[in-house]
Amino acid sequence: MKLALVVGARPNFVKISPLIKAINEHNKSTLPQIEYILVHTGQHYDSFMSDSFFQSLQIPKPHFNLGIGSGTHAEQVGNTMIAFEKVLKSEQPDWVVVVGDVNATLACSITAKKEQIKVCHIEAGLRSGDMTMPEEINRLVTDRLSDLLLTPDQLSSKNLRQEGTDVDKIKMVGNIMIDTLNDALETAGMLKLDEIIQRNSADEVNKNPEADSYALITLHRPSNVDQVEDLTKIVQFFIDQAASQIPLVWPVHPRTLKNLERFELLETLRKNNNIILLQPLNYFDMLKLNSQAKMVITDSGGLQEECTVLGTPCITMRFNTERPITLQEHGGTSVLVGNDLSKVKLSFNAALNQKRESRIPELWDGHAAVRCLAEIIKY
Ligand code: UD1
Repeated sequence: MKLALVVGARPNFVKISPLIKAINEHNKSTLPQIEYILVHTGQHYDSFMSDSFFQSLQIPKPHFNLGIGSGTHAEQVGNTMIAFEKVLKSEQPDWVVVVGDVNATLACSITAKKEQIKVCHIEAGLRSGDMTMPEEINRLVTDRLSDLLLTPDQLSSKNLRQEGTDVDKIKMVGNIMIDTLNDALETAGMLKLDEIIQRNSADEVNKNPEADSYALITLHRPSNVDQVEDLTKIVQFFIDQAASQIPLVWPVHPRTLKNLERFELLETLRKNNNIILLQPLNYFDMLKLNSQAKMVITDSGGLQEECTVLGTPCITMRFNTERPITLQEHGGTSVLVGNDLSKVKLSFNAALNQKRESRIPELWDGHAAVRCLAEIIKY
C-alpha cells in the first residue's frame, strides 16, 4: 500500500510527524510494508514557519515541495491542485492522507478524488458553524469528499453523523497532535525560559519572566488581525490593561507582524517594557512557554487543545470554536471571548487567580497515530 501524506502549513507539521513515526514502526514488523511519499505544498515556506518544525519534529525532507507560497485563497488552492495532480499521476498512491483544515487539505482532497484516489482526513468532523472562516469551508468540503474520516472526539463524530455521513466511514481515533505533545514534553521541560526568550527576540530583552508569572499571546486569524480597528483595540488592551499587571510574551505570526507594521502599532508595542515580542517559535520552545504560562490568550485552534491537556487557562479570542471539547463547559480550560474587550478583561482577571488543571479528553493518550494507521490498513 502506498500513501501520499500532505502538509502545507505549520499546524499540519505537528500532525503528520507522529503518523510518519507510526509508519516507520509498522515497517519494522513482518507485516506488509507501507510505502509513503510526503508532499509539502509550500504554503508555509520560511525557516520559522516550516523548516524549524521539520527539524524539531524530525520530519523527513518532503519527497515533493510544490512551492506554492503566499497568495490569495484561489491562488493557493488552484496552484496546489495543478501541481498536486502531476504528483498523483506520476506516483499513483492508493490513498491521499490530509490533516487539519488549511488550504492544502482542501486542494489535495479535491485533486485526489478527481483522480479517483481514496482520501483519509485526520481531524475530521470539527465544525465552528462559521462560514466566514476559510478553515470551515476547507473542513466541510474535505469531509464531504473523504472515504475515511478520523475524528479526534465524539462531538466531531456526531457532527458528521448529523450531516448524513455514512457511519462506517467515521472512526474516532483521538487527537494526533497530543501524540506530538506527549513525545515532546520531556525535551521541552529541559529548556530554560530565559534562553528561549533571548534566542527568539530581535530586541534586547532585559526582562526574564518566571514560571507562572506571564501571559503567552498568539494571534493570527484574519478576523482579529486584518482590520485596523480590531487589531488596534486588541493592542490597546494589551498595553493599557494587561501588560500593567503581568508581562506578556508574544511570538508574532508573519500575518500579524505585517499588519502591526502597516497599522503603525509595532513601535508602541516594542517600546513597552512589559511586552516581549518574539519571532514565531519552534515546537519545543512554544510547548515550554505554554506549560509554564499563567494563561494563554490566543485565536489558535491547536493551542486551545494543548492548553486543555497542559492545564493552562486559555482565553480564546474568537466568537466560536470548532473545538468545543476544549471549552470549560466541556471540561477543557478555554473560554470564548470574541473580541469583546469587557469579556476579555473579565476572563483575564479570572485567569490571574486560576490554578492549572490538566484535562485529558477520551483517547487523547498519545497513541492516535497508531490508530489512524490501523484504520487505513483495515479499510
Ligand atoms: C494558515 C491557515 C490557518 C492556520 C495558519 C497557521 C489557511 C486558509 N489558513 O493561515 O488555518 O491556522 O496557517 O499559521 O490555510 N508568511 C510568511 N512566511 C511563511 C508563510 C506565510 O511570511 O512561511 C506570510 C505571508 O506573507 C502570508 C501570511 O504570512 O501572506 C499568511 O500566510 P497564509 O498562508 O495566508 O496563511 P496563515 O494566515 O498563516
